[in-house]
Amino acid sequence: MTNNVTNTVEEKVRDHFHEDAERFDAIYETKKGPIAAFIDNWWRGVVQKRLELNVEKLKPFKGKKILDVGCGSGRFCIAFAQNGAEKVIGIDFAPGMIEIADKLAAQAGFGEKCEFIVGAFPDGINAADAPFDACTGNGFFDYVEHPVPIITAMRELTKGKLIMSFPKAVEWRVPLRRFRFWMKGTPLFLYREAQVRDILAKSGVTDLEFIHLDRDYLVVANV
Ligand SMILES: C[S@@+](CC[C@H](N)C(=O)[O-])C[C@H]1O[C@@H](n2cnc3c(N)ncnc32)[C@H](O)[C@@H]1O
Repeated sequence: MTNNVTNTVEEKVRDHFHEDAERFDAIYETKKGPIAAFIDNWWRGVVQKRLELNVEKLKPFKGKKILDVGCGSGRFCIAFAQNGAEKVIGIDFAPGMIEIADKLAAQAGFGEKCEFIVGAFPDGINAADAPFDACTGNGFFDYVEHPVPIITAMRELTKGKLIMSFPKAVEWRVPLRRFRFWMKGTPLFLYREAQVRDILAKSGVTDLEFIHLDRDYLVVANV
């Protein structure tokens, strides 16, 4: 996936997650050594907390059609299907992530209910699949340069709930996280609370719950 010249933010993010897909997904693995488990919990514990809170906030799932944007290895999609969602569509522009998502969904017996698309949001979504009862984007806005058009598209595709996480700009892990991404040449976008509220207002999202979840802000909105 890596070209001689990678120009745009999207290309850099896509190539990073394509190459890093297995390592990223390993965060969700429960079978790991005590040192790896400690580091993942201490450094990236928010990943699992986000998943649990999304499931809690979207209940009941029966009959729902859900879109997960920047779905990565499909862990949220599979959890939504396991909890009773009728149909879940996950979209991610990193092929390595979608390969894992397809494999995990099939292994879990939810290959039919979960559909994974390799593509950039929102272009990769078929408008005929809308409206969705819920649309989620977790660990995703960390890598989005222009969030307003993306959130506007999520809102327009949905009649129900939006759940989105935004990484805090002021937080004890930030300097090291910034340094790690800078070393890899991968773009990273962090947010202050006022900035998130401004982005949401500009995207037409007004009826919302604002939650401080570890290193993230988690927004649960009715649209
Ligand atoms: C940190 S991963 C999070 C994956 C998943 N949501 C989770 O929490 O397990 C962020 C994902 O967003 C994807 N992504 C970023 N911008 C995107 C875009 N515009 N369209 C599609 N996928 C995108 C990346 O490829 C990456 O796999």
